[in-house]
Amino acid sequence: MLLDSGHTAVITGGASGIGYALARRCAAAGMNVVIADIEQAALDVATAELQKVAGHALGVMTDVSEQESVDNLAAVATNAFGPVHLLANNAGVGYTGRAWRIKLEDWHWVMGVCFWGAVHGVTTFVPSMIEHGEEAHVVNTASWHGFGAAARGAPYQAAKHAVVALTESLHFDLQESAPQVGVSLLCPGYTNTRITESLRNHPDEEVRAKAAGSTRSTSGWATPESVADLVVAAVTERRFFILSGADT
Ligand code: NAI
Repeated sequence: MLLDSGHTAVITGGASGIGYALARRCAAAGMNVVIADIEQAALDVATAELQKVAGHALGVMTDVSEQESVDNLAAVATNAFGPVHLLANNAGVGYTGRAWRIKLEDWHWVMGVCFWGAVHGVTTFVPSMIEHGEEAHVVNTASWHGFGAAARGAPYQAAKHAVVALTESLHFDLQESAPQVGVSLLCPGYTNTRITESLRNHPDEEVRAKAAGSTRSTSGWATPESVADLVVAAVTERRFFILSGADT
């Protein structure tokens, strides 16, 4: 069993929402759990909560858009727990606006977290997952917006389309060369998390300050726990597509 005691999970964006719900499932299964997140305060709270669940938990401050930061995450995780068996490239940020009005810095921010974050996870962790030779699995989080785009979300939707292509290609690459490493593509439908408050992590302090306190109702959306359950089932069955929500 991959999601089993003694095995190690690394989950980016693990301090909130879907990532945190998945981390709780992994901890409850007895796994060593490493959550990586850019939001230190949320990371501290989430790590403390995970430590109360069975298993060993560690929080590592990480900016997935930076290669060196993901290198550090891998070093800390491996030093603490040895080989990594489950990698969830889950960190993501939303951004809305008309394609031509969105500043280039914001395009780079969204692509950096949503797309380059997944690339950094793959290039940093997959070589050692292949090398250790044990059963392992990568879950990349895209979105139903990875299959179809709508108005006012060009950077996010472009990034998520790219994650779909990255993940499909990774799946075929691993099938050909290291089939013990499985791959799943998570495309959640609307889920009740803090995704609509993504500007809380914007690199520009002024943007963060302006956005503070503005929330959008997400009641009626799926729970992150229900999405985490789908991920656990798919990894256990080594299934590629994980689609949640009637909208998907
Ligand atoms: P969330 O906002 O609750 O969690 C996202 C986490 O990513 C946060 O803890 C945040 O601090 C972290 N993060 C942001 N920038 C980061 C960076 N540079 N480095 C490391 N961590 C960073 O949102 P949610 O919904 O749990 O998001 C998880 C994934 O699910 C994202 O990839 C999102 O795009 C995707 N998704 C969410 C949907 C929803 O309706 N909630 C729908 C479709 C996809």
